[in-house]
Amino acid sequence: MLNVLFVCLGNICRSPMAEGVLRQLVAERGLADQISVDSAGTSSYHIGEPPHRGTLAVLRQHGIALDHRGRQFTVADAARFAVLVALDGRNRQDMLDLFPAAQRPEVHYLLDFIPAGPRAQDVPDPWYTGDFDAVYALIERACQGLLDQLSAAHLSPV
Ligand code: 4NP
Repeated sequence: MLNVLFVCLGNICRSPMAEGVLRQLVAERGLADQISVDSAGTSSYHIGEPPHRGTLAVLRQHGIALDHRGRQFTVADAARFAVLVALDGRNRQDMLDLFPAAQRPEVHYLLDFIPAGPRAQDVPDPWYTGDFDAVYALIERACQGLLDQLSAAHLSPV
């Protein structure tokens, strides 16, 4: 099993959205027995809480149900999850800061998986922008690219 973890700040808006989207894509490609998906936040602000209603609404519009409760990223997650994906640069730095320099894991930017030219690496935070639809569109494209790369690199041909 290849374990993928998305990490944002609160674990109620962006990373649970990415969790729901990638899990759906994994299921559509018949890979549910090969790839597992989870999400976490760098902060403790929303531990135990369900995703933001805006995240749940946009997922529902796309036929995706999500059952997740907020939890905080810990150093133990780096051993459990082979693929760590940050939603923005602050999230990535906050994750890396938890580790001694010699033990820092690789942390990807989600938007680096969109196959295109130069672009921003930060997924805008709908907690502040209120625009869950725009964030969904970005996350959907990036998760397609991420899954394409995972399929090519880690899994048997699909
Ligand atoms: P997220 O958004 O990191 O995408 O889950 C946020 C959620 C809550 C807060 C900030 C960002 N907050 O400050 O409580």
